[in-house]
Amino acid sequence: MANKVPQLEDLPDPAGQRVLLRADFNVPLGHDGTIVDDLRIRSALPTIRWLVEAGAHVTACSHLGRPKGKPDPRYAMDPVRQRLAELAPEVELLENLRFDPGEEANDSAFVERLVAGQDLYVNDAFGAAHRAHASIVGPPARLPSAAGRLLAREVEALGALLENPARPFVAVLGGAKVSDKLGVIEALLERVDAIVVGGGMCFTFLQALGHTTGDSMVEADQVDNCRRLLDAGKRIVLPSDVVALSPDGKIGDPATGEVRQLGRNIPDGWRGLDIGPGSAAEFTDEIETARTVLWNGPMGVFEDPRFKAGTAAVAQAVAGARAFTVVGGGDSAAALAELGLAGDVDHLSTGGGASLEFIENGDLPGLAALREAPNA
Ligand code: 3PG
Ligand code: MG
Repeated sequence: MANKVPQLEDLPDPAGQRVLLRADFNVPLGHDGTIVDDLRIRSALPTIRWLVEAGAHVTACSHLGRPKGKPDPRYAMDPVRQRLAELAPEVELLENLRFDPGEEANDSAFVERLVAGQDLYVNDAFGAAHRAHASIVGPPARLPSAAGRLLAREVEALGALLENPARPFVAVLGGAKVSDKLGVIEALLERVDAIVVGGGMCFTFLQALGHTTGDSMVEADQVDNCRRLLDAGKRIVLPSDVVALSPDGKIGDPATGEVRQLGRNIPDGWRGLDIGPGSAAEFTDEIETARTVLWNGPMGVFEDPRFKAGTAAVAQAVAGARAFTVVGGGDSAAALAELGLAGDVDHLSTGGGASLEFIENGDLPGLAALREAPNA
């Protein structure tokens, strides 16, 4: 299989060896700098434990946020280091990789510094495996390398969507931008029985169908692309109704503006910010009849309680579906967690962008690099 990469068992005996572990500890931080959700840290523990029990000395590394190549105290690794110490005391953690411009530039001198003194490399950073950055693609060219347990589990679950998924296979996509998801939509159209579209990106599709969208988010330069996808004759399910906010309303301030349920045409100045109840019921039907479901991206601005219902309905439907269910993206994961449903899906991916890119291309730069490792 194209995605076959060396596993932990394929490493030379790690006992007494120094292992560089690339993890994705890019966790959401609150305003006070504390960790809001430690899923990504906990998800790396099986790999860390395996390595420590095998007698390895583990040095972990990760990026945190987007500090743009220079030190920025807001993105220091301290809160991660502290949480990691509570969970897995035997691990060293390097400072934020993106404090050095060499990380994102995939600079070979930076790679050499990372691997200096290390014997083996393990990539468990699924959420960053779509980035051809130094710590992802550099070490496997230099050290015997392996995928960690999390990376392997992600590839297996997402790979199942690409190889013989049970049908009907329904993808539910939300989030702000069509431009971010165009590639994955095209790839999915070849594989799924229906794509259900909500979130900010549905308005560009609705405009392509000739509806008025008021002040809703529309990517004018993507209308033609949306029309082309709609004309391709595949099943793209769009909302039949929306929840919209009047021109004087402010997102996140429920004391402002008026909220109305509208059909597909939105008057001047109004902004569609969630799918409506009719759409929520239709989307739920699609999910309930599916045998494979992929969900990525919220249906509306769910941080504002007025525009939460669509995302909550989809989360509930996905959690209750009699299907193999895969959910990706931080917002979808957060919605599930908030509803207490995170344990009710088959696979909750730790990577949003990475999971979509894997579905689009069937591969990721981090996986390709592991296949070139000296022990592969
Ligand atoms: C993520 O959170 O999506 C990953 O950690 C990758 O981060 P990036 O989008 O800043 O590269
Ligand atoms: Mg991201």
